[in-house]
Amino acid sequence: MLSIGQGRYLFLLDWIGTPLSFMNAFRFVIYGAEGTGFMIERAETIEQNALEEINQTADAGTLEEIRVKYMGKNGLLTQVLRSVGQAAPQDRPRIGQQVNKAKQAITESLKARREALAPLGKSAKASIDYTLPGRRPPLGQKHPLTLIREEVTEIFHEMGFGVVDGPEVELDYYNFEALNFPSDHPARDTQDTFHIGDAIVLRTHTSPVQIRTMEKQQPPVRVIAPGRTYRHENPDASHAFTFHQCEGLYVDKGVTMAHLKGDMTYFARRLFGKNVQVRFSPDFFPFTEPSVQYDFSCVACSSRGCKICKNTGWLEISGAGMVDPAVFGFVDYDPEVYTGYAFGMGLDRLAMFKYGIDSIHMFLENDLRLLGQ
Ligand code: DAH
Repeated sequence: MLSIGQGRYLFLLDWIGTPLSFMNAFRFVIYGAEGTGFMIERAETIEQNALEEINQTADAGTLEEIRVKYMGKNGLLTQVLRSVGQAAPQDRPRIGQQVNKAKQAITESLKARREALAPLGKSAKASIDYTLPGRRPPLGQKHPLTLIREEVTEIFHEMGFGVVDGPEVELDYYNFEALNFPSDHPARDTQDTFHIGDAIVLRTHTSPVQIRTMEKQQPPVRVIAPGRTYRHENPDASHAFTFHQCEGLYVDKGVTMAHLKGDMTYFARRLFGKNVQVRFSPDFFPFTEPSVQYDFSCVACSSRGCKICKNTGWLEISGAGMVDPAVFGFVDYDPEVYTGYAFGMGLDRLAMFKYGIDSIHMFLENDLRLLGQ
């Protein structure tokens, strides 16, 4: 508690700090025009002091105190402003100008300091309107080729096949040579491709993964190898420079064509329905003997004939056959002990049949409407 005596001193201090308006009015009375100079100086000093204080502050609360001290209702600058009216009319604009300049400088400096001190996220947070409905990001969809690969993989998983992988940029040796396509073999013409140097190609089929797998493991082998392949093709609705295959290989003692036919029929019915028929016809591949081409009865028209099956009632699905003993020679499997079947089916074709897509190029075009269906 203050005693009455102390209170008196406080009053004295108060009086010394009496609002400038009073002091200035006093000065004008005594000094006349000299008071103008004083007021301008006073505004300048106030500006300097305020800027200094602002810059030394690292706390938003103190900044607010500084604002009140200089620009509040009874702030130091406000007082100078109020006393402008008491100056000689011709001097008022000059004083007013100086006071305004100080006011602007202080306001800007306060603002800049406040922003510099505010933690980054804070101002952004303040501008979020939590009552607005959220923006839904469009949901992604799986590409038809991904869907078909996943489904095919799942069916073969059920049948006891593992999944293996191989490089798309492949050695000529794996893509051709070890699959029994010698370098001068005319069967190479059916698989023209992109060459990267002498002995490296973009793989034309997934069959090289057969060799890579057999090099690494002894029978029994039961794997599929889905992946991307490349060929130098004349593009049409069912041919593109890149497409997808799923290779299959089953090697063990006593594997026969009957296993191939049974497994392919099971696969066909799991993928397209229990009424699908499978038909084999003779074909030629250097790495299978005998070789076949197999077709599924057309799922779109139940074999009555339609655009999709080109009125044949059958869909060409895959090449297949019994692994040629010459291939076993490249991987040191004993053809006297082991036999195996292999197949390579076009995943793009399966997806086209399954989802009713009429051009293979749609898979590459990135048109979101295809994915949205
Ligand atoms: N790789 C062959 C092609 O793309 C298809 C093929 C035929 C794969 C017979 C095989 C097979 O595994 O045994 O034309």
